[in-house]
Amino acid sequence: MKEIKVQNLTKIYNQNQDNEVVALNDVSFTLPQGTFCVILGASGAGKSTLLNILGGMDKATSGSYIINDKDVVKFTSQELAVFRRHDIGFVFQFYNLMPNLTALENVELAASVALEPLNSEDIINQVGLKDRKNSFPSQMSGGEQQRVAIARAVTKNPTLLLCDEPTGALDSKTGEQILTLLHDVSVQYNKTVIIVTHNSNIAECASRVIKISDGKIIEDKINDKPKKPSEIEW
Ligand SMILES: Nc1ncnc2c1ncn2[C@@H]1O[C@H](COP(=O)(O)OP(=O)(O)OP(=O)(O)O)[C@@H](O)[C@H]1O
Ligand SMILES: [Mg+2]
Repeated sequence: MKEIKVQNLTKIYNQNQDNEVVALNDVSFTLPQGTFCVILGASGAGKSTLLNILGGMDKATSGSYIINDKDVVKFTSQELAVFRRHDIGFVFQFYNLMPNLTALENVELAASVALEPLNSEDIINQVGLKDRKNSFPSQMSGGEQQRVAIARAVTKNPTLLLCDEPTGALDSKTGEQILTLLHDVSVQYNKTVIIVTHNSNIAECASRVIKISDGKIIEDKINDKPKKPSEIEW
């Protein structure tokens, strides 16, 4: 069983300067494989900082982050690049698709750098875009673009799927579809999915809810009876 284990993680920006910011302060948690986790916190709480460290895009100042029995905090830049390529799927708030590639090509590009990718066409079908696979991002709605972004992250068959406000730019109905899709991916492939959001209603469908404030964990709860995305209020 793969788990991710974060221990005493601290991130200080501009250390030893006048404008020092402690963005993460001694954060610890362990997520068993397959956890559908929501991280909640107000603006500036440290959510993106945490997600960027978990995704290997930023380095912690101290602490450890164990995944696949290795401590990512000790990784060199080259090791981090490989880690991002092989182990991480990332879904951004504003999709970040390649505008000159079709939906399918966006997904295939991600698959091409992965170690053991899933079939891109199957994943495109699974996210409900069979008929839109040859469309360019500019020809798709926000919800469709976000489904491509999820397909792109999932096709890599990553250890960890990280989502920064994945429904933040979407209306409630489309947001519900995206949340359902992320939830289904977590269950079907037994993937750990971490969603960062300031929308506390979304947390009701998570199996684990971690609240952060001022860079610290203020609550960490297991949810035995998570709701379906269709059952929550937006
Ligand atoms: N590169 C940086 N340099 C200096 N300070 C930073 C940097 N990135 C973030 N911070 C600071 O760290 C703190 C946490 O920022 P972070 O972006 O993680 O918050 P957040 O919870 O994602 O907020 P939001 O909901 O607005 O996205 C804030 O005080 C922010 O100003
Ligand atoms: Mg943020």
